[in-house]
Amino acid sequence: MMSPILILGRNGQLARALAAAAGDTRSVSLGRADIDLWDETAVAERIEELRPSVIVNTAAYTAVDAAEGNAEAAFALNARAPGVVAHAAARHDAPLIHISTDYVFSGDPGRPWREDDPIEPRSVYGRSKAQGEEAVLAAGGRVAVVRTSWLYGATGGNFLATMLRLGESRDVLSVVDDQTGAPTYVADLAQALLTMAPQAPQGIYHLAHAGMTTWFGFASAIFEEARARGWPVKARLETTTTERYGAPAPRPAWSVLDCGKARRDFSIALPDWKTGLSRCMAALAERQGEITST
Ligand SMILES: NC(=O)c1ccc[n+]([C@@H]2O[C@H](COP(=O)([O-])OP(=O)(O)OC[C@H]3O[C@@H](n4cnc5c(N)ncnc54)[C@H](OP(=O)(O)O)[C@@H]3O)[C@@H](O)[C@H]2O)c1
Repeated sequence: MMSPILILGRNGQLARALAAAAGDTRSVSLGRADIDLWDETAVAERIEELRPSVIVNTAAYTAVDAAEGNAEAAFALNARAPGVVAHAAARHDAPLIHISTDYVFSGDPGRPWREDDPIEPRSVYGRSKAQGEEAVLAAGGRVAVVRTSWLYGATGGNFLATMLRLGESRDVLSVVDDQTGAPTYVADLAQALLTMAPQAPQGIYHLAHAGMTTWFGFASAIFEEARARGWPVKARLETTTTERYGAPAPRPAWSVLDCGKARRDFSIALPDWKTGLSRCMAALAERQGEITST
């Protein structure tokens, strides 16, 4: 095998999309059963053995609300482990792309967030991811931090999967309409990361679909697409506020990322979020076709 892409966080939605986009001959995925991300010697040994062209670290504690009561676990995986991986990568001069999040921001600058805007994470998840960014950037290797937002895909637990499931069984669904961001389809993000990786990115980059909406807007578009495909949608959507919804973790009201730097440096730009959604729904339809025909 030529130098493979090493993907950490094997069973996650982005990791699976990366593996699918890169193909088996170009990638090796390691999950928690294969590698201990807190053991620098073990990580360094795998890097030496595989000699990856790039490492993409997607492994993370992503349960944003649960993290409020599990700070230790969130910081261990989102802050400490990335530092270990980055040090091991630097020792072997392996480039690393570390995935981070829009949840490091809060407030509203009156425009999309740029890479060098000051961060101000409010949740445990956001703070742990912010520390992870700092740790990988301080490790001294060839490191890029890629912040993305509102990930979903055709597999795994995510907002789209939840909406389709609840839409079938509930009469009414209340969805938050005062958080604005860009839903990002993992398959499109994976392609963008694979285009970026050989161009040796370093520093912080934002990569998300273009445009913006609220969770309510996203849910409405999901139901519209589902109905157009003849899928069962019983629920009526109604808006609610972040305060009324009362999730345990605070979330940024304004999550839109300015992705101009990736466009300028690498000619990478994801299309509008609605295009991503249509592609994901087409992929879901294909999967359902496969399931029903077996
Ligand atoms: N989901 C979002 O909306 C969102 C938004 C912005 C940014 N991000 C960032 O994007 C990246 C990918 O997110 P995702 O949605 O693909 O995540 P995900 O589906 O939740 O997957 C995360 C993966 O991390 C690994 N992991 C979890 N706990 C672990 C542990 N204790 N030890 C070792 N590995 C563990 C698991 O892989 P294995 O089971 O194979 O070990 C898991 O599948 C993350 O860095 C996340 O912070 C996500």
